Formats: sequence, structure tokens, C-alpha cells
Amino acid sequence: MKIQIEHLDKIYKNGKKALSDVNLEIENGMFGLLGPNGAGKSSLMRILVTLMKPSQGKVNVNGYDLMKNRGEIRKMLGYLPQDFRFFTKLKTWEFLSYAAGLSGIRNKKERMEKVDEWLEKVGLYDVRERNANKLSGGMKRRLGIAQALIGDPQIVVVDEPTTGLDPEERIRFRNILSELSQRDVIIVLSTHIVGDISSVCQDLALLNKGKVEFKGSPEQLINKTKGHVWQVSTSGIEYEMLKSEYAIISTIPSENGWEVQLVGDNINAKNAVEIEPNLEHAYVYFMEYLTNQNRF
Ligand SMILES: Nc1ncnc2c1ncn2[C@@H]1O[C@H](COP(=O)(O)OP(=O)(O)OP(=O)(O)O)[C@@H](O)[C@H]1O
Ligand SMILES: [Mg+2]
Repeated sequence: MKIQIEHLDKIYKNGKKALSDVNLEIENGMFGLLGPNGAGKSSLMRILVTLMKPSQGKVNVNGYDLMKNRGEIRKMLGYLPQDFRFFTKLKTWEFLSYAAGLSGIRNKKERMEKVDEWLEKVGLYDVRERNANKLSGGMKRRLGIAQALIGDPQIVVVDEPTTGLDPEERIRFRNILSELSQRDVIIVLSTHIVGDISSVCQDLALLNKGKVEFKGSPEQLINKTKGHVWQVSTSGIEYEMLKSEYAIISTIPSENGWEVQLVGDNINAKNAVEIEPNLEHAYVYFMEYLTNQNRF
């Protein structure tokens, strides 16, 4: 499987430019889209799942042109929108059965087996008789995940799938995706939660204001941040100065003040020690760098 995105632009009717010359190549496995609010993640995803046309540019999916072969591409897709909502009186299992039917599983017995399998996988088996619209927020999210995946799609596009999930469910979901990514499948996942990406995505793109600012592996992004992450034991006026000058990642109280982790260059503090960056550090560093280019 392969998705090639070339020179993609999206300008909304109100003149807002949501995507600007996006070029990406997405191959089998898990691909993470990372970026702040309004970066263009959902816009890109809506184009990928053929719900919206780009203003310019090309997308090719496994040899199919996204603009010309929408039908073929739709058959390959499973999609979880960011604002997944449904207005239905269907029971949870009925809703999933309906989704399975839409994805082409016509045989009733096969459909029922799939429904039970997915109810188990996303932890909704015990509430299968409950009306879908009476589920809790997190349960609805899990139902959304199940409806996206029940048809065994070759391309999975999930927009902020872990929003509202508790840590246990987040891990469960991560495992479902890791399992899936072993097959001939592309999974595109957007998130604000850096931890969702670090453990599972081979590749990621960092979007900011509609532009791809970085593409590569999480390790490559982390490597770019080496030498820019610091830990400082500090207190008093120096602490206040650090807070106003640098992007603080964490602050932990210590005996004499604070243990602060921050990103930046030429840290102006007595006890600054360079530390090994992780993906969260890398993300903060990049965002700082992009919003404040002249500072670093
Ligand atoms: N239908 C629309 N009409 C006009 N502007 C829109 C529309 N949808 C999104 N936008 C704008 O396009 C930009 C990108 O929005 P998008 O929803 O793609 O970002 P996002 O990265 O998904 O953000 P978030 O993390 O908040 O979900 C934003 O400035 C947004 O306000
Ligand atoms: Mg979004």
C-alpha cells in the first residue's frame, strides 16, 4: 500500500488556507500526524477519505487517483472523524452490525461474528444491548474506532482516536493498531498526545499552519533536538526568568526550589545540565522554534 500526496493545497470558501503545498509519502504501517490546533490535520484527513476536495494538488492511493477513482478508494477506507457523532436509536451491537453491512459484509452470520469480535476488542461487549447514543463519551469513541475497523480496511484514517479514552483504553487501542499495522495496511493517525505516536508510529509528519515542517521517524525528530533540552535546579528570580525566556516542559518541586526541564539554546542559568530528549521534548522544541524563529 502506498499513498502519495503532491503539492496539496486547501483553501476554504471563507478564504482560510488550511493546507499549503503538502507533500507526503505514506507507506504500510502507522503514520502519525502531529500538530497544534488548527494545523490542518483534520483537513488533510478529510481529503484523504474523499469527503472533501483539495483546492490543488494530487493524491494517489495504490495507483488510484483520489479525484478520479473515489469509489475504488472508498472501498479501501475505514475512517473515524474527530467529531464522530451519530443520531440513532440503534443498540450498540446493531450500530456495529450496520457499519459492518456498509463495509460490505453481507453474510449475516459472518457479520454477527465480526460484531462480537469487535465488541470484545474495544471493551463494549457488556454494554452491547445499550442504545448507542446512551453510551459514555469514551465508549462512543470506542464504538467509533470499532466501526472504522470492522470492515478490515486497507487504509485506516483515525482523527484524534484517543480523545476521551482513559489510560487503560488508550493502551488497548494502541495494541489493536500495532496488531493491524503488521498487515498490508496503512494507518494514518492524528493526535495531540505525543505519547500516542512515540510508541507505535514508524513515520510522522509535523504540521503547523498548513505546512509540513518535519517528516521522518520519531528518532530523527528526537535527534534534531539533541543539545537543546536542559534540566535546571533553580529557584527564586532565576526560576521566574527561565519561565519567561524558555519553553518549560516540566516543573518538579525540589528541596531548594524547582527541578525544571526546558528547551532552548544558550541557557542562561548556573545549574543547567543537558539531557537526552524524548519525543515530547522534540515536539515542544520544534513548536517553539517555529513560532519564534529568531530566538534560537
Ligand atoms: N469548514 C471550514 N471552513 C473554514 N475554515 C475551516 C473549516 N474547517 C477548518 N477550517 C480552518 O482550517 C484550519 C485547519 O483546521 P483543521 O481542523 O484541519 O485543523 P486541525 O489540525 O485538525 O486542528 P485540531 O487539532 O484543533 O483538530 C483552521 O484554521 C480552521 O479554523
Ligand atoms: Mg482536527
